[in-house]
Order: sequence, then structure tokens, then C-alpha cells
Amino acid sequence: MRRLFPVTDQTVTTDSGGRPPGAPGEGGGAGGGAAQDREWSLDELADAYAYPEPGPGEPRPWLRANMVSTLDGAAQHDGRSQPISTATDMRIFGTLRGLADVVVVGAETVRLEGYRPARARAEFAGRREAAGQGPAPAVAVVTASLDLDFSLPLFTSPLVPTLILTGAAAAPDRVAAAEKAGARVVIAGDGMGIEPDRAVRALAELGHTRLLTEGGPRLLGQFVAAGVLDELCLTVSPMLAVGDAQRIAGGPSVAVPRRFALVSLLEEEGFLFGRYRRP
Ligand SMILES: NC(=O)c1ccc[n+]([C@@H]2O[C@H](COP(=O)([O-])OP(=O)(O)OC[C@H]3O[C@@H](n4cnc5c(N)ncnc54)[C@H](OP(=O)(O)O)[C@@H]3O)[C@@H](O)[C@H]2O)c1
Repeated sequence: MRRLFPVTDQTVTTDSGGRPPGAPGEGGGAGGGAAQDREWSLDELADAYAYPEPGPGEPRPWLRANMVSTLDGAAQHDGRSQPISTATDMRIFGTLRGLADVVVVGAETVRLEGYRPARARAEFAGRREAAGQGPAPAVAVVTASLDLDFSLPLFTSPLVPTLILTGAAAAPDRVAAAEKAGARVVIAGDGMGIEPDRAVRALAELGHTRLLTEGGPRLLGQFVAAGVLDELCLTVSPMLAVGDAQRIAGGPSVAVPRRFALVSLLEEEGFLFGRYRRP
């Protein structure tokens, strides 16, 4: 993997004549650039994706999303994101989890992707301890119906209790089933569902300020529309899927498209790993 932006002296390796590798007369091939195109350690990835340092006083929540899209905008293929992902995308996915306090995810993604509890990984243990975090992030499932299989390991055997984010009008028997399985139910809305800004505040009140949402598109669209998304980590996969797959964010369009700023761009085998922030 190599860094394309911000441009550093490692972005393009030049020979002593100042020519990029592979330039005419250079003999072609990857040349010196190949030296930079190497697998990054998880530590390097964690440094590259560190959450912003909290300012003085109460740390404010920072909501980051991590999504993958094909060139033609598909956010899934055959109902899953795995076919449009790659090993490095999964390493970044794991790194972003390793940095997060909580992973916020829509119930449909949990159902379709067969979500399991987040793992404690030795590679992130020291970093997490230094940041005052537990061994693994909690998973927070956003749901109005609570139509979830509470016998799954996500609910019965996580390292830290799984959270259910729902509305005050959620069905009491489903709330009781969730709690019986060991989940912690957090109310973040007056009706059946959650209000995105209230969900962010509720998580912060529980001490979760490094937030990571893994979508899906219907949930991400609401975070964007509510103006609470701080950062988007977007993998652009060099694939074309055609079909009628969802885009990474769905729902009613916003009045004016939200402008984000590119913070960094990494590349490997044609996959682009961008990091964008709200200005
Ligand atoms: N490309 C990517 O990076 C990526 C990432 C994630 C997922 N995906 C793909 O996206 C698809 C699933 O995404 P999706 O957009 O259909 O669903 P989703 O956003 O994962 O989940 C939608 C569900 O979340 C709950 N929900 C959403 N907003 C809510 C609110 N305001 N209050 C309470 N509950 C709320 C509802 O659950 P209930 O029905 O239980 O009420 C709703 O049915 C899958 O195919 C998955 O593979 C792709």
C-alpha cells in the first residue's frame, strides 16, 4: 500500500535524475516505487487512522463511517459488501474497529451480514489501554423492530455487552427479550425509532466518544442528513457491479450536498482508501 495524499517524499520515488520509476529510459516496471508499495503494519494503519485528539474539557463525540463502494456506486453485491472488498480493506476495517469505542450498525446489516461480537486483538491492546478503552468496542445495533435473533453470540457472548439503540415506543416484549439475552437497551428517540443526533449524544453519555458506524446505507443516510457525521472512510473498489444495489447512503436527499474535505488517500492494487472530514 502507498500513500497518494497528502503527498510526501514517499508518494513517488524518483531516481537520481528526478524521473519517476518506469519513466522512459528507466527500464520500466515498478522500479523504486515498489519499495514503497508494501503491506502496512496494523500499527502504521492505526496511526494513519487515529481519531482526532480530544480538545480541552469534555471530549465531544466524533462519528466516523467506514464504507466500501464500487466505481459505479454499488454498496453491496448479492446483498453483502464482501464481494466488493479486499484483504487490505478488511485490515482497515479491523483497524477502525480497533480504534473505536463503539461500532454503530443498522439492524439490516446485522441480519444480512451475520454480525458477530467485536474481537479483542493483541495488536491494539496497548493502544486501547493507553486510550482508556476496554479490550474491544461495543457493538450498538440500531433497530425499531428489535426483530433480531437474541440467541446469537452478538447478544449472548460479547466481550462487552451489545447495545440496542431504539425508540421509547419499541415493543416492550422485544425490549425484555433483548435485556434477557444480555443486551443493554438505550433509548434514543420518542417514537419507534432513534433520532440520529440523540443516538450520538446517548452514546457519548455512556462514555463512547470515538464512534464508528459501519452503515448500512439507510442508517448512514440519516446520520448525514442530521449533520452528525464527522468523517467518512471510503474504500473505492475498482469494480463495476451494474444492477440496482444501494449506494453507501440512502434515504431522502439533503437540500444541499454536504461538502467534505479529503484528509488522506491510500492505494493498493487499484483500491483507493480515502478519508474525508467535515470541514
Ligand atoms: N458497502 C458498505 O460499506 C456496506 C456497509 C454496511 C452494509 N452494507 C450493505 O447494506 C445492506 C443493508 O443496509 P440497509 O441500508 O438496507 O440497512 P441498515 O441501514 O443496515 O439497517 C436498516 C435498519 O436499521 C434500523 N434503523 C434504521 N434507521 C433507524 C432509526 N432511525 N431508528 C431505528 N431503527 C432504525 C431498522 O431496523 P429494524 O428493521 O430492525 O427496525 C432498519 O430496517 C446490506 O446489503 C449490507 O451488505 C454495505
